[in-house]
Amino acid sequence: MKPFLFVTDLDNTLVGDDRALETLNQKLHKHRQEYGTKIVYATGRSLYLYRQLTTQKQLLQPDALLTSVGTEIYFNPTTHTVDVEWAQMLSQGWDREKIVATGRNFADLVLQPKSEQNSFKVSYYLTDRAAVKVIPRFKSSLSDKGLNVKFIYSAGKDLDVLPSQGDKGLALQFLRQKWKVNAQQTSVCGDSGNDIALFTRQERGIIVGNAKPELRQWYRENQTDYRYLATAHYAGGILEGLKHFNFFTSSDGSK
Ligand code: GLC
Ligand code: MG
Repeated sequence: MKPFLFVTDLDNTLVGDDRALETLNQKLHKHRQEYGTKIVYATGRSLYLYRQLTTQKQLLQPDALLTSVGTEIYFNPTTHTVDVEWAQMLSQGWDREKIVATGRNFADLVLQPKSEQNSFKVSYYLTDRAAVKVIPRFKSSLSDKGLNVKFIYSAGKDLDVLPSQGDKGLALQFLRQKWKVNAQQTSVCGDSGNDIALFTRQERGIIVGNAKPELRQWYRENQTDYRYLATAHYAGGILEGLKHFNFFTSSDGSK
């Protein structure tokens, strides 16, 4: 058996079904011990909200943590020191103050709590109805000011504005290069809009059965044999996908 790089979103992907999570945790833990498989969480949550989740759910200690939609990378799970090389890459051409100032012109944009804002992420609540008009207008007024940013809209309510060089997928590419793992030996799992960036290359993609409409639609338009839409939900869907791609075999007791 070979080691693989296991990358997963947390809310409504890894977390959502406690029993399936326990089964998956056991298998991943064993795989990491026996083969050196690496576990990475790629979440929209800030480090603050991630820590909160760890007090509520049984999560394995990750080998790396990508928080705030990939705008922060933590390699050391105990000290939680942000990776400065990644921060430097994101800082190019980014002007947070200008984004916030432009956002004030749109009444429908409601800033998320302070804990969810960081140097390289401006996050708002925005309803589905308002999004259709507000997103293109906000985008064009930022580009009029020469700001080249990335918009990620998730779950019909969250709008993240990120540096164009940053998202979960680009943070993962940074990791893969550092660790020298190829796409075939990497599995990525998600349920919503901010996970789409994880699926855009050739990693083995697992979309859980409870995925949100925006990710389902993206999947329908981008089907290929290295992307798998599971039937089971949450961690159950991940288990299904890991078997589908043969990351888990009968020797793990998983078939
Ligand atoms: C998490 C974050 C939030 C973000 C959302 C979607 O809920 O806390 O800031 O907007 O994920 O990426
Ligand atoms: Mg999610």
